Amino acid sequence: MKTLRYVPSATLMLALLTSAAFLGCAAPGSDDVVSPDETAAAAEAYEPEAVVPTKAHAVLTPIEGSSVQAAVNFTEVAGGVQVNAWVLGAEPGDHGFHLHEVGDCSAADFTSAGGHFNPTAVQHGGPGDALHHAGDWGNLVVNSVGSGALSVTTNMLSVGPGANSVVGRAVILHSGTDDLVSQPSGDAGPRIACGVVELGSAPPMESMESMESTESTEEGSDDAAAASADESGQ
Ligand code: CU
Ligand code: ZN
Repeated sequence: MKTLRYVPSATLMLALLTSAAFLGCAAPGSDDVVSPDETAAAAEAYEPEAVVPTKAHAVLTPIEGSSVQAAVNFTEVAGGVQVNAWVLGAEPGDHGFHLHEVGDCSAADFTSAGGHFNPTAVQHGGPGDALHHAGDWGNLVVNSVGSGALSVTTNMLSVGPGANSVVGRAVILHSGTDDLVSQPSGDAGPRIACGVVELGSAPPMESMESMESTESTEEGSDDAAAASADESGQ
């Protein structure tokens, strides 16, 4: 049923792209604003049921005495999950950043979140190592004014249900650096922020919006991405 509505939309997009190319108009987002909105609306109308969730998020709560702010978005992509995180108000330097097993941030020191999410029962490591926990994202690098971002794509996690799902687990930011070697957790020091992963996109954090790059995704952007991919391929 979804296909029945989607095909006309795709055709419409193609037609628009073709005419735009014919007119020599290479600036998407100017003249063709109306159509993508309609496409997004049509897609949204079919999303509520029957579709596997593709987005999840966590908003982290700082440990008492800290004003660090952080949020993470998870987006299901081909072959895995893209993890995009932002932090503000942190100490400059590298901070260990992981998905922990238990979605429980109730303990004052966040130890209630348990160890690193490790469904394959392997050793701790860096995200680029052959062997590492599914929750090993390495370090979030914080600059001199206290902000930082991290983007990791992994095939060891999913947003949808299953043994690798991120939903209901906890994201932890550490005060120290993950050395990517020490067992079982990289010797990253105390936990300074914790957030439980929930379905859906993170609410916009106004102070963080300016940090979002062009990678930032919104409803209907799948179509836009496909469109620009088509364009660049021509
Ligand atoms: Cu951790
Ligand atoms: Zn680990």
